[in-house]
Amino acid sequence: PLVALRPLLDHAAENGYGVPAFNVNNLEQVQAILQAAAATDSPVILQASAGARKYAGETFLKQLIEGAVASYPNLPIVMHQDHGVSPAVCMTAIKLGFSSVMMDGSLLADGKTPADYDYNVGVTRQVVEMAHACGVSVEGELGCLGRLDTGMGEAEDGVGADRKLSHDELLTDPIQARDFVTATGVDALAIAIGTSHGAYKFSQPPTGEVLAIDRVRAIHIAIPNTHLVMHGSSSVPQELLAEVREFGGELKPTWGVPVEEIQKAIYFGVRKINIDTDLRLAMTGAIRKHFATNPADFDPRAYLKPAIAAMRKVCEDRYNAFGAAGQA
Ligand code: G3H
Ligand code: 13P
Ligand code: NA
Ligand code: ZN
Repeated sequence: PLVALRPLLDHAAENGYGVPAFNVNNLEQVQAILQAAAATDSPVILQASAGARKYAGETFLKQLIEGAVASYPNLPIVMHQDHGVSPAVCMTAIKLGFSSVMMDGSLLADGKTPADYDYNVGVTRQVVEMAHACGVSVEGELGCLGRLDTGMGEAEDGVGADRKLSHDELLTDPIQARDFVTATGVDALAIAIGTSHGAYKFSQPPTGEVLAIDRVRAIHIAIPNTHLVMHGSSSVPQELLAEVREFGGELKPTWGVPVEEIQKAIYFGVRKINIDTDLRLAMTGAIRKHFATNPADFDPRAYLKPAIAAMRKVCEDRYNAFGAAGQA
């Protein structure tokens, strides 16, 4: 059935596991995720970004997710709106039937410029009031996602192009997190602990810890009843990069967040783990390989089938690694 984010993550917290939240833009991604969840008996979070809504249209996305709910009646499925830039965007999603929304008030409504704390509190509290009246859960975000190695925040041009952020500015402050949760009433909070969106997270292979795991623990102690969310959690597996490159793709050297580090973060309180890039890489590698090895094929089903299988494998690996398998 369709469920809100709060009860799904409450169960994860009670049982000490994390739930991957996969971004969806099309039928094949939805099918891959649901096949993996059914095979591993895992709870499901499907999320639609602004880019996904622009690509597919929000009605198609909603209907795709409703198709998943109808096809897999025994699995709990959250229909989540990712990175809402304004209360208006969140309201539209709530009216469409989304069971969970993210109000990302860490940025202004342009989705780029860092917002001040009071703005973030104001817009997020407004969304919580509307959403909770409708039985819909809310994720907020506090902090500036960015790379601890280079000091580059994701919205660094908005901060001032010449200024690198300090280690501390790139990490969510636990005291401020407590204040934010008290002021807004969010169900879940996205935190900055050194992750960033996209394929290019780290330019060196990981040696030791790449994230601020201590900070996860400190934030969890400060807000034990609010579920912690990690954005930018793709692991960018080297074997997926290798496949894309082997069949003509051009990807620069890059490393993602090691799965073992996500497991540590789950141990210290992270419950929702956002993953988009890994499925993009899996899909691209499989399609490139299919075209290279079957140049006469032109039926999209012939090349999308291996793409679904490749994405499904990534999803199954994450459901198993995060302890979500067997929890549906
Ligand atoms: O938050 C970022 C997600 O990876 C979605 O990206 O806006 O290109 O769909 P997108
Ligand atoms: P990745 O780019 O690491 O997959 O992160 C996706 C994300 O955080 C979506 O909100
Ligand atoms: Na942010
Ligand atoms: Zn994100």
